[in-house]
Amino acid sequence: VTAIRSVDAWEVLDSRGHPTVRVAVETATGRGEFTVPAGASTGTHEAVERRDGGERYAGLGVRDAVRAVREELGPLVEGCDATDQATVDGRLEAFDGTPTLSNVGGNAVLGVSGATAHAAADTLGVPLFEYLAPDAPGSLPLPTVNVLSGGLHAEGGIEIQDVLVVPVGAEGFADALETAWDVRRAVRDRVAAERLPLVADEGGFALPFDGVEAAFDLLVECIGEAGYEPARDGVAVAVDVAATHFHDEATDAYAFETLGRRLSADELIDRVVAWTEAYPIVSVEDPLADHDWAGWRRLADRLDDGVQLLGDDLLVTDADRVARATDADAVDAVLVKPNQAGTLTRTTETLEAAAARGLEAVVSARSGETCDATIADLAVARGATQIKIGSLARSERLAKYNRLLELRHRYGATMVGPSSIGSFGG
Ligand code: PGA
Ligand code: ZN
Repeated sequence: VTAIRSVDAWEVLDSRGHPTVRVAVETATGRGEFTVPAGASTGTHEAVERRDGGERYAGLGVRDAVRAVREELGPLVEGCDATDQATVDGRLEAFDGTPTLSNVGGNAVLGVSGATAHAAADTLGVPLFEYLAPDAPGSLPLPTVNVLSGGLHAEGGIEIQDVLVVPVGAEGFADALETAWDVRRAVRDRVAAERLPLVADEGGFALPFDGVEAAFDLLVECIGEAGYEPARDGVAVAVDVAATHFHDEATDAYAFETLGRRLSADELIDRVVAWTEAYPIVSVEDPLADHDWAGWRRLADRLDDGVQLLGDDLLVTDADRVARATDADAVDAVLVKPNQAGTLTRTTETLEAAAARGLEAVVSARSGETCDATIADLAVARGATQIKIGSLARSERLAKYNRLLELRHRYGATMVGPSSIGSFGG
């Protein structure tokens, strides 16, 4: 009864209004859907999205990817056991034949992979997080919540992509969420007095700061105004520099407009170290471009033990790159995005590689999302200690926070493992 009977796909629109792929998989008695997210600041080595080009939707259409699901990938997996995710994903990967799934399109492949897991869980009559857990499900992750946005997610903002609040000292998931909400509200009250703040792609505020330090200053002040202590073990700060997107290949320099000049890798390293010394920062993501392994290593040497160095574009949810980065001692944590990997199997392999090598795993949404909440179940199933969804605004973000609240309410008692709140940074 768990054999895949049919695979269907169609085009929908994501949170930026860009077309994306939705896939439905059916067995005899169950059905599951998955909708593929999309990044803006993508890593060089991640799974490739297939877009139609041409005039329709400014070239962003995904009709070719949808057609590939219906005409090529569907027939390939029909008859397969939906509960055998590895075989389904193996067929999809073998059919594509490239590491980045560039023939068929990572968005087509991931759509089928994700919908298969939902169909399997539905057929077995268990919630997705339970189905995805190898043993007992893990714990609820610590939320790292976007408050100030820049980079490619916020026209006219600072160059670094996210300044986040991390309620390290909270007593549990729900308490952490409330704390982050209070801080975001304090920021909103501050900026609403001057102008209507622009809400960026992930729901954070996009403000024309004079420099990155001004963004950190505002967030730290607002943590205090909300009644909390800005501290690494209290209410802390995280940053996603997303440096690849403002690195210029030709001059090997980082274009820091707010500084009015370009920075070399070593100047940027100095600056990142200075931020972590001046502010209660517990996590630094993508501080350097995704090719600069030596620079990551130099920064790792200089960062305090209490600061997590987190690889997103550097690692692109790839188990081999996770191994390479751990061998080089270049990271402490890996960001995990299913659409960077291209299949659910590759995603869980990366989570397993991270666990085996003692890295923290941060399951993450993309900047282009829908109300698909699969990553909430994935994070809990696999005991990821942190989750990065965006801000506490915009329904595509809240769908995932709300799914975590639902998991806490309905199934909290069945989760095992240490509270991620206490283990963060450890
Ligand atoms: P992206 O941003 O989805 O645009 O890549 C998210 C991130 O960089 O963490
Ligand atoms: Zn990132």
